[in-house]
Amino acid sequence: MPSVLPLGDPAPADGILPPQVLDGVDSRKFGLYVHIPFCAVRCGYCDFNTYTATELGGGASQDAYASTAISEVEFAVRAMEASGLPQRPLSTVFFGGGTPTLLPAEDLARILTAAVGHWGLEAGAEVTTEANPDSVTPESLQLLADAGFTRISFGMQSAVPHVLKVLDRTHTPSRVPWWSNGRATPALP
Ligand SMILES: C[S@@+](CC[C@H](N)C(=O)[O-])C[C@H]1O[C@@H](n2cnc3c(N)ncnc32)[C@H](O)[C@@H]1O
Ligand code: SF4
Repeated sequence: MPSVLPLGDPAPADGILPPQVLDGVDSRKFGLYVHIPFCAVRCGYCDFNTYTATELGGGASQDAYASTAISEVEFAVRAMEASGLPQRPLSTVFFGGGTPTLLPAEDLARILTAAVGHWGLEAGAEVTTEANPDSVTPESLQLLADAGFTRISFGMQSAVPHVLKVLDRTHTPSRVPWWSNGRATPALP
């Protein structure tokens, strides 16, 4: 079924925000959410806006996504400035999905670097990416840490193999404690 736009005013093409966003702006924190709408497999229970490579067809490309997201950051910077919002550093950054870690860690690092380069980041700010337990490697996690990610949120769902199967999960239960221990042993389950 074709999707329909939600009720309400359409988003303005120039991104200019309504004047009421300026009310109390100095007392509000500024957080960034980056949506990465790709998954290896669609879990049957999931309501999030996300697509497998087959569902994407030729209409969009995971390869181009980081550059597209960076263009959106640049658009947001211009739109916020034109709307009169004061320049403030980010207080939190969250990459969610979908499965952000389906993209190469270098791509996530590029998007983060662009956002922090434009807006800055508060000292000690939490920078998270969601991940599936089988969508990371010791190398990719190291790269994410080096780029400034301070937290990884792993989706586990269950510790029972047949429940994971019913939920269409692609990882084993043992994969989760393996990462939670933070150990990069060769015996990856
Ligand atoms: C949208 S997923 C993104 C991260 C990762 N792909 C994963 O599967 O964990 C984040 C979390 O949302 C939760 N979730 C997914 N579908 C949901 C639903 N229909 N209702 C409530 N929570 C849901 C799952 O627990 C999942 O771990
Ligand atoms: S991997 Fe995560 S985002 Fe993707 S379909 Fe499953 S629960 Fe949803």
